[in-house]
Amino acid sequence: MTQPKKLFIKTYGCQMNVYDSERMAEAMGGQGYVQTDSPDDADMILLNTCHIREKAAEKVYSELGRYKGLKSERPDLKIGVAGCVAQAEGEEIMRRQPMVDLVVGPQSYHRLPELEAKARGGEKALDTDFPEEDKFERLKSRPKAKRGPTAFLTVQEGCDKFCAFCVVPYTRGAEVSRPADRVLTEARDLVERGVRELTLLGQNVNAYHGHDRGLAGLIRELAKIDGLERIRFTTSHPNDMDDDLIAAHGDCDKLMPYLHLPVQAGSDRILKRMNRQHTAEQYLRLIERLRAARPDLHLSGDFIVGFPEETEEDFRDTMALIEAVQYGSAFSFKYSERPGTPAAERPQVSEAEKDDRLQRLQALLTRQQRALQDAMVGRDVGVLFEKAGRLPGQMVGKSDYLHAVHVAAEGLQPGDLRPVRIVESGPNSLKGVLV
Ligand code: SAH
Ligand code: SF4
Ligand code: F3S
Repeated sequence: MTQPKKLFIKTYGCQMNVYDSERMAEAMGGQGYVQTDSPDDADMILLNTCHIREKAAEKVYSELGRYKGLKSERPDLKIGVAGCVAQAEGEEIMRRQPMVDLVVGPQSYHRLPELEAKARGGEKALDTDFPEEDKFERLKSRPKAKRGPTAFLTVQEGCDKFCAFCVVPYTRGAEVSRPADRVLTEARDLVERGVRELTLLGQNVNAYHGHDRGLAGLIRELAKIDGLERIRFTTSHPNDMDDDLIAAHGDCDKLMPYLHLPVQAGSDRILKRMNRQHTAEQYLRLIERLRAARPDLHLSGDFIVGFPEETEEDFRDTMALIEAVQYGSAFSFKYSERPGTPAAERPQVSEAEKDDRLQRLQALLTRQQRALQDAMVGRDVGVLFEKAGRLPGQMVGKSDYLHAVHVAAEGLQPGDLRPVRIVESGPNSLKGVLV
């Protein structure tokens, strides 16, 4: 028997890249590859990259630099770059790092086996097209191996929104939805293999139109699958939150009470310059409607500080919006200039001001996150257990609201969903006992 070849994949960026990496590993399984945790014994190294901020993109080149030694020791080692940097920079990557053998954009992953064969034959292989076909349909069907209790499932890709700061519409292309029947088939298959919780993914997941009643229609179909206990989705745009999706938060038991709904800023002047197509007031009204449907909904968001021309007053509007919402968790970033995007051409805010604003914003968000987490103490909440904790006899899982919860109890297995009484709130997680 021939030895299997080894594939090392390193994933950066968003959850869609995590899902894509899984699918690429499975496709390469068909080419005789097994995955390895270390680049040192790999026959192929694949970086699945992110282009969202300058730092993320530059990481790719420093990581590639690290493999120079390996490649000179073992010239047979193939090095590939996938993901959003591959799409944005294409051949430029091979010019900057001639040891790269293969560059593949996010819409061409089904062509990876051919590209690998080409690279094996000693040629440079590049594919950054936006083909019409559904790449996931063309990727090898998923193996039947047992899975952990949670999984991602990409249902929509791409973005037509063109926020003035963002590269995603260029790296992932136009919005495309996978047909509902294919999503349902994949979901049933994942559930048969042990999955209890699905997170539906899309750059604009609530713009999903693969079902005639949109994302809410898809969620209601998924909720009928026996054995599937929980459904989540991310990332949503405020303007695509339709009535049925709001209602689903109130009437679909399997849809978890946690919603990531980025707003980016709280100043209308900045929202307009960002091309977000909504005001701060419209966002707040939407939150009110969501909370009317599901009063205990935990909200999460993304924020950018120091967007071009943001004044101290604009920034205070963002702080006021955060005070009004009370977030359960959030991600915040300093604005990063991205080549080719309209905001990069505007007058920039100084690095010192960005640092100062980010610090103040994060302090407020951390306080809110902690307050909501502390308020869980004494409450009963569902916990889906995922893995053993650090202490003997302990298991870790996620609450309905996505908090990490530690419980010490005999006989708990990954995949068990149990009511838990929260007894303690720590810096990053909760402690509970079975009820
Ligand atoms: N589709 C999602 C977000 C995708 S990018 C949405 O519309 O919400 C994830 C986050 O990265 C964004 O929400 C934004 O907060 C941040 N981001 C995107 N471009 C950025 C840039 N140029 N500088 C800093 N942060 C950025
Ligand atoms: Fe980027 Fe805006 Fe599209 Fe989100 S909605 S991916 S921030 S362009
Ligand atoms: Fe990054 Fe591409 Fe995701 S730029 S955030 S990996 S869509």
